[in-house]
Formats: sequence, C-alpha cells, structure tokens
Amino acid sequence: MDAGAPPQPLRPAGWINRLAASPRFQAFCARVPGLSGIARREGAALFDLMQGFVQSQMLTALVELRVLHLLADGPSDAPALAARLNVPPDRMQVLLQAGAAMQLLRRRGTRYALARRGAAFIAVPGLEDMVRHHSVLYADLADPVAFVRGESDPDLARFWPYVFGATGPMDADVTARYSRLMADSQRLVAEEALAHVSLSGARRLMDVGGGTGAFLRAVRARYPALDLALFDLPDVVTQAALPADIARHGGSFRTDPLPGGADTISLVRVLYDHADDTVLALLRKVHAALPPGGRVLIVEPMSGGARPDPQTDVYFAVYTMAMQTGRTRSPAEIAELLRKAGFDRVSRPMGQRAYLARAITAQRPAQEKGAQSVNVG
Ligand SMILES: C[S@@+](CC[C@H](N)C(=O)[O-])C[C@H]1O[C@@H](n2cnc3c(N)ncnc32)[C@H](O)[C@@H]1O
Repeated sequence: MDAGAPPQPLRPAGWINRLAASPRFQAFCARVPGLSGIARREGAALFDLMQGFVQSQMLTALVELRVLHLLADGPSDAPALAARLNVPPDRMQVLLQAGAAMQLLRRRGTRYALARRGAAFIAVPGLEDMVRHHSVLYADLADPVAFVRGESDPDLARFWPYVFGATGPMDADVTARYSRLMADSQRLVAEEALAHVSLSGARRLMDVGGGTGAFLRAVRARYPALDLALFDLPDVVTQAALPADIARHGGSFRTDPLPGGADTISLVRVLYDHADDTVLALLRKVHAALPPGGRVLIVEPMSGGARPDPQTDVYFAVYTMAMQTGRTRSPAEIAELLRKAGFDRVSRPMGQRAYLARAITAQRPAQEKGAQSVNVG
C-alpha cells in the first residue's frame, strides 16, 4: 500500500518549492531565456488547473446545444447559430470563441468550423453521453470540502443503481441511454485491453460482470474459435444481445459460486465498484472456478500509485469516491489482492491509455498442494 511507503526526505523538495514560490525568483526566471519558457508554461498550467471546471461546463454547453454536430455540416457564424439555438448572439460568440480556444472549433474570420479535435470528440462512441451524465457528479462536487470530508450525500451513489432499476421503477429512455453509454465505452476499453493482452492460449473465457456483452463481442471478433460465457446478475444477462453459442449464467458473485469450465476469467470494470473485502471474496471465487494454470484478466482504470496519474488519480478516484461503493486501485493494490486470493505470476500493468483502462493478468498456480494440474494451453 502506498500509505505504508517510507517517508521521503523533505529537505530538497522543500528547498526547491520555497524557491519556486519566491516572487524574486519568479521575476528572475521571467527575465532569463530558457527559464522564462518554463515559468510561462508553469504559469499557464496553474491557470488551467484553476479554470478546468469552466472548460468542462462550456464543453457541456457545446454538447447540449449540439454545436459540434451543426458545424460538422459546414462553417457558420455566431448570429446564424444564435438564431438557430435561441441564444443571444453576443453570448453565442463567447461560446464559439471558447470552443475555438479549446481547439474543438477553428475560427476563420468571423466564421467557425469544426476542428480536428471537435470531429474526433463527436466520433468517439459514448463521449457525448458521458459529458451529459457529468451533471450529476458536477452537482456532487459543488461543496468540494464537504465532499472530501465525506459530509455530503452524493447523488452519483444513486445514479447507476437508479439507471439499472435497483432503487425502483426505471425510466426506459434513461436506462437505454446509459446502457448504451456503458456498452459504447466498453468497446474502447476492450480494444485497449485486447491490443495488449493475448488470449491465444485460452480455450474458454468467462466474462464476470460482463454487462450486456460488449467485451465478449470484441473478444469474438479477435478470437472466433474461443469458447465464451457471460456471468452477470440475472436481469442483466437476459438483456445481452449475444450469439446463441455464448453461454449466459445469471447469478450474483456475492452469493453464488461461479460456474467452472473456463480456463480464463475476465473482470472488466468490476473491481473498482466494490470494497476490498468484496473484491477479495470475488477473486477467491474466481480462483476456485479456474483450473490450476488458469488465468484471470483484470481490466479497469487504475491509479498511478507511487506515480500519480493525471486522469485516473483525479477523475476516476473522485468518481468512485462519489459512488461510495468502491475505489480506484493502483496495480500494486490489485496485485496484493490477487496474491491474497491465491494467484501468482501477476503481470505488470498493460495498456497505454490509462484513462480508458489498464490490464493485469495473473495465474492460478499450475502446481498447488493437493491439486492436479490442467493444461490450458
Ligand atoms: C461497471 S459495470 C461493467 C460492465 C462491463 N464489464 C463493462 O465494462 O462495461 C459492472 C457490472 O458488474 C455487474 N455486477 C454488479 N454486481 C454484481 C454481482 N453481485 N454479481 C454479478 N454481476 C454483478 C453489473 O451488473 C454490471 O454489469
């Protein structure tokens, strides 16, 4: 655990920090070529930290007003878009200018066009729905000190259970929209994982907590000969649109044993929803369901641990804290839980886009006391 790491000597960092905070040193840096560039970049980075919430709210306005989609049809100017979207022209001008400053739009004279970043934004499956659903987290963070102290009552903790009907009657449109968001984002997560993890030695893979089966569909596309199975809550499994040959098991990993027969079990964006004791019990069930030599594959956004990550240690750590049931763990923390559950050969974390997910594999030891080895390769 990072909290248990030995304390680092504070003197050099304190000395450098005191220098960086000194107005005289800042003025000196601003005059010296080389140092002035660093000082400017550091100043701009500090300003961006401060204004991040304004950027994300203007992004939300662009999404809600569908400005990027309108500009995908061709360039336009503020008065024309203002008339179309029922926004005063001078305020539309400010929004478009902010969109151009964030490089989502390009300004050409008085007209604005979709920039490459804006085109990429609307092309990423699920990204617009993701931005829309952030209104819940944004409201939860309105009093950040109360939030950090655990003195607030975040709505996000009820959001996903509400979407999937755990707290009462579901609104079909809301459920469809956010099920689509999970499935759309899972396509990207699956691509990232499968680009780095090979399943070529596996014969049967069971995806536990696999939702509506997006990960299994991605696996099928890459490994058509691999036998596949889905395990999730009974209501979720019945909604999965999967080829008939993919087995579906409805059950709860909290109360039911996991079915045997798979030599590889995947857990995609499952662990971070749950507390350590639930995760450890789940990993023990996965271990029991696998044959000796079988592999577990864990895919989810992970904390940078000793090297804090700019996205996962801000966005996902805060998101999972608001959800209240789980937390964003570092690869080292996941590895420790895996070892406690009886796994060995824990891999290093794989994947380059940490904001999507990283992957870790581990093995049920091929030779266990009193167990017979099964060849899964
Ligand atoms: C965050 S979603 C991830 C879904 C999918 N793996 C993905 O990445 O899109 C967590 C999944 O775990 C499932 N789940 C939660 N509690 C469960 C339980 N006790 N037993 C089985 N599945 C469960 C949920 O139904 C949901 O499909």
